Amino acid sequence: MTQDELKLVVAQAAIAYVVEGEIVGVGTGSTANFFIDELAKIKHKVKAAVASSEVTAARLRSHGITVLDLNEVTSMPVYIDGADEITPQGAMIKGGGAALTREKIVASVAEKFVCIADGSKLVDVLGKFPLPVEVIPMSHAVVARKLNALGGEARLRMKDGEPLLTDNGNMILDVHGMQILDPLTMEAEINNIVGVVTVGLFARQGANVCLLGTAEGVKTLQF
Ligand code: A5P
Repeated sequence: MTQDELKLVVAQAAIAYVVEGEIVGVGTGSTANFFIDELAKIKHKVKAAVASSEVTAARLRSHGITVLDLNEVTSMPVYIDGADEITPQGAMIKGGGAALTREKIVASVAEKFVCIADGSKLVDVLGKFPLPVEVIPMSHAVVARKLNALGGEARLRMKDGEPLLTDNGNMILDVHGMQILDPLTMEAEINNIVGVVTVGLFARQGANVCLLGTAEGVKTLQF
């Protein structure tokens, strides 16, 4: 099976976690896109969606799915999203698509985080995938120095020769070469650096379920 086929099967499996008549939180990225397209097939069964990025909101709307502002929503049973890396304990690196802050916010309102990922995302130790950190633009140099002092090499994410700007108007530092042995402590430590908006470590509130696409089929990991 190709990586895209694995993403599709986990997206299809995630439909079983969508609660009829309720609001669903929807993530960002290529796996989430497969999920959105599957969700469109049962759109009459869901009340509405909350999106973790402008790109996701546009894709949901293009299917005729109502997208609510999170400020209008007090609870949702489930948030469904991909990951860049996930451990057997459910801690994740996210933010390869630069949507980490909104992803963390929407996930914080959901009762359950269902991670959908192809098998290549499962790792014993996080950090081979560069860790995204969203920062206030005026602070990117000072935050980079502090991240480097933690043992990584922070690089400003660029797009078309300019620093990439998130949906929130901020910048992303990608931290290369970190071995994250204690994700919970590292998440708190990086979040405490002045100028950091969000670190793409989802350990304090990780996944509750991971649907992992493998050659042997979809494996369900519960945390
Ligand atoms: C978006 O900001 C990310 O957190 C994505 O969830 C993550 O990068 C996974 O993306 P893919 O599904 O495209 O691998």
